[in-house]
Amino acid sequence: MSASLLVLAVLVLASVCNAPVALGARELAGEDAAMAVRHEKWMAEHGRTYKDEAEKARRLEIFRANAKRIDSFNAAGKRSHRLATNRFADLTDEEFRAARTGYKIPVVAVAGARSGRFRYENFSLADAPQSKDWRMMGAVTGVKDQGECGCCWAFSAVAAVEGLNKIRTGRLMSLSEQELVDCDVYGNDQGCDGGLMDDAFSFIARRGGLASESAYPYRGEDGSCRSSAAAASIRGHEDVPRNNEAALMAAVAHQPVSVAINGGDYVFRFYDGGVLDGDCDTDLDHAITAVGYGTMSDGTKYWLMKNSWGTSWGEGGYVRIRRGVSGEGVCGLAKLPSYPV
Ligand SMILES: *[C@@H]1O[C@H](CO)[C@@H](O)[C@H](O)[C@H]1NC(C)=O
Repeated sequence: MSASLLVLAVLVLASVCNAPVALGARELAGEDAAMAVRHEKWMAEHGRTYKDEAEKARRLEIFRANAKRIDSFNAAGKRSHRLATNRFADLTDEEFRAARTGYKIPVVAVAGARSGRFRYENFSLADAPQSKDWRMMGAVTGVKDQGECGCCWAFSAVAAVEGLNKIRTGRLMSLSEQELVDCDVYGNDQGCDGGLMDDAFSFIARRGGLASESAYPYRGEDGSCRSSAAAASIRGHEDVPRNNEAALMAAVAHQPVSVAINGGDYVFRFYDGGVLDGDCDTDLDHAITAVGYGTMSDGTKYWLMKNSWGTSWGEGGYVRIRRGVSGEGVCGLAKLPSYPV
């Protein structure tokens, strides 16, 4: 970690030092000073402190590189979404992915074999509502924050189970991610080191249910498993046919759906609002939950997705992502969706 950090810091420094060669020393000093002030302001805003001046200087260089990417993205003005120097702006891509994502790419899914049955296969989209927002149906709990633990997979799976449980029982109950982090540890799922929603669904079915959030609260780190009364149960899961946004829409019309995505890409990490519409590669490293879909007045179609990075990220913790793009979808969202049953 520290070796790769060092290499990165050097790379960041090198790119920063190379870029303004054409500038005079005075402009360069002015730009440096402005960025240092901006970093100070950002630190105050986000309550960030560093252990010493060396660390602060290193973080300033990372902040500078991120801020420049964000500024030039926003200045290009061609996109329907905005980026912001949010609370992740002093982390390198590697640090960010390690701490805030946590989706493991399943070998079988990459090879093409996923569970066969798709219960919504004969559902006609003509019968689907034009827009859907499961929050309005009371089927979505408040936005949660995974903290510095790569267990997005648990948050994604739990949000889908919370939705199904509300639809089936009429009761919305916040459920335990920590129970998955602590107890679902004998296969692909490894707590803060990543996991898969399909495996989490299977685990919940085998265990006979999942505890409530209040009975088994989130701690944001790996811990030892304890038994706790099940507050909601499922029978298993099914996979949405891959790279098929029409099938995904049929599923989301019926229930919230777990979605794997590229969340480490800077256009996602620094997303601040609008409809995220591309320039994002499709390697999967993060997981979120589709809780609706809709269409803007200009005709832009979007998915409504719930993230687990707190309410200060994106639109109150949610992201709208362009819908109806062929193939793998924006940031790979159509590659491996699945839902509990
Ligand atoms: C969809 O329709 C086909 C043809 O009628 C049928 O064989 C299949 O079982 C149906 N699928 C589901 C999930 O009901």
